[in-house]
Amino acid sequence: MIYPVAAGLLLGPRLGFIAILVVAVGTTGFAVLEPHVSEPLFNNEPRVTGLMFGSPITLVCGVAVFNAIVIWGIAATRRLADERDRLLVLRSELISAVRHELRTPITAVAGAISLIEGGMVGSLEAQAKKLIAIAKRNSDLLASLVDDILDIERMEDGNSEFSVEELNLVDVVRESIELNEMYAQSFAVTFHLLDGSAIAKVKANKNRLLQVLANLLSNAAQFSSRNGRVEILVARRNGCNRVSVADDGLGVPEKFRDRVFERFSQSKEARPGVQSGSGLGFSIAKSIVKAHEGMIGFDANKNGGETFYFDLRASEESATAVQD
Ligand SMILES: Nc1ncnc2c1ncn2[C@@H]1O[C@H](COP(=O)(O)OP(=O)(O)O)[C@@H](O)[C@H]1O
Ligand SMILES: [Mg+2]
Repeated sequence: MIYPVAAGLLLGPRLGFIAILVVAVGTTGFAVLEPHVSEPLFNNEPRVTGLMFGSPITLVCGVAVFNAIVIWGIAATRRLADERDRLLVLRSELISAVRHELRTPITAVAGAISLIEGGMVGSLEAQAKKLIAIAKRNSDLLASLVDDILDIERMEDGNSEFSVEELNLVDVVRESIELNEMYAQSFAVTFHLLDGSAIAKVKANKNRLLQVLANLLSNAAQFSSRNGRVEILVARRNGCNRVSVADDGLGVPEKFRDRVFERFSQSKEARPGVQSGSGLGFSIAKSIVKAHEGMIGFDANKNGGETFYFDLRASEESATAVQD
């Protein structure tokens, strides 16, 4: 009320003004008020001594302005809704194009390259072998990029099946280590599970958890120092079970830290010689952990390197089996 009254006073005594009544939240109505003018005492200027409900003309003007504002608001909201619907249709068309027009041919290309690489059409000369290896690496990368995009889309549409079961997080971590060990070896990095006998029950979707872990472990392998050691720990923390993956690399650069979970984001200081991914891994991992009502994060290690972790709520049974 203060602003309309002040504005009215500034406009001068002849104009009157519209005061919008705001009750609690939202506009519920308005009053048209007009300054009540007293006779000037010392000069020719009229003086404002109070406010009273305005003349019929100002009331009619006020109603007209109010109606115009309401109609403008409705039209703008409708335009926004139409635009949103149009974008949703575009998005679903794009996704279906990615699925059918890209994924299928990429699979065919990767398959053909694998056959050539495997000697199906005869042995290859050294130069040809090199080129085929490059083609293979890149078709794999393209295929995983398309998979990542489709994954993100599924997560955002809420279409990802999320049947959950009770799992011992330590078992899932052990399985993921086995699955990613070979990859780590290619960087001369080793994985070490600390306290593999712990029980850490959570309700989760196993395949999705394996996907999150694969991302954390493969990143740790890529960004560790050569002959590096990656330590994986499952521990209880504030009613949650936390999986942490600590590497001994250079860590996430300071200026990149707040963009790590953004889509397609990769720090420029990527390890030389490492085939970079799509920059979608963490974004997908974050969506999966969020869909499990958990949280994901990272901290710099005291002695260098980075620790990435995620927390999932401990299920009832483990609350009694393991103490905080
Ligand atoms: N353990 C790590 N140490 C340092 N930087 C990391 C680590 N893990 C991830 N990053 C940084 O975060 C970026 C995003 O990771 P991610 O989303 O998994 O994408 P990608 O692995 O495809 O590059 C990486 O490119 C890298 O710059
Ligand atoms: Mg990654």
